[in-house]
Amino acid sequence: MPKIIHLPKIEDPRGNLSFLEEDEHIPFKIKRTYWIYDVPGGQIRGGHAFKKQEEFIIALSGSFDVVVDDGVLKQTFSLNRSYYGLYIPTGLWRQMHNFSTNSLAIVLSSTHYNEADYIYDYAKFVKYRRGNEK
Ligand code: TYD
Repeated sequence: MPKIIHLPKIEDPRGNLSFLEEDEHIPFKIKRTYWIYDVPGGQIRGGHAFKKQEEFIIALSGSFDVVVDDGVLKQTFSLNRSYYGLYIPTGLWRQMHNFSTNSLAIVLSSTHYNEADYIYDYAKFVKYRRGNEK
């Protein structure tokens, strides 16, 4: 199940600090990190599924919504704090939208980039989910 994980927040008059450690706050080893920024108003990112990749998404700055879909149910998670992260297990369709101005999304991934891990077609994704349930 996708879930919001609250990361440590060390409050300090000099500025707050948050951190995460693999296997401690997120349940996988980090193979890759990428970030999404300079998103023009109204744009949508994501809009695909991963067969193997697990990921953890943080709105380091600003805010955006992540819609996670298992082929039947859609859940929307609003990321709007630098110390919230969204864990997304493998095999789910996800899309990111409602990016605020100057928002910065960081994505920690359990895999190296592999185009073959993507499912870009929603109908194929639904079939893939049904196939895996049998
Ligand atoms: P993509 O994952 O399709 O972006 P999004 O789903 O967020 O809209 O990636 C966009 C492009 O960037 C695509 O051509 C592949 C490339 N890319 C990499 O080369 N390495 C990476 O780690 C990622 C995430 C993307």
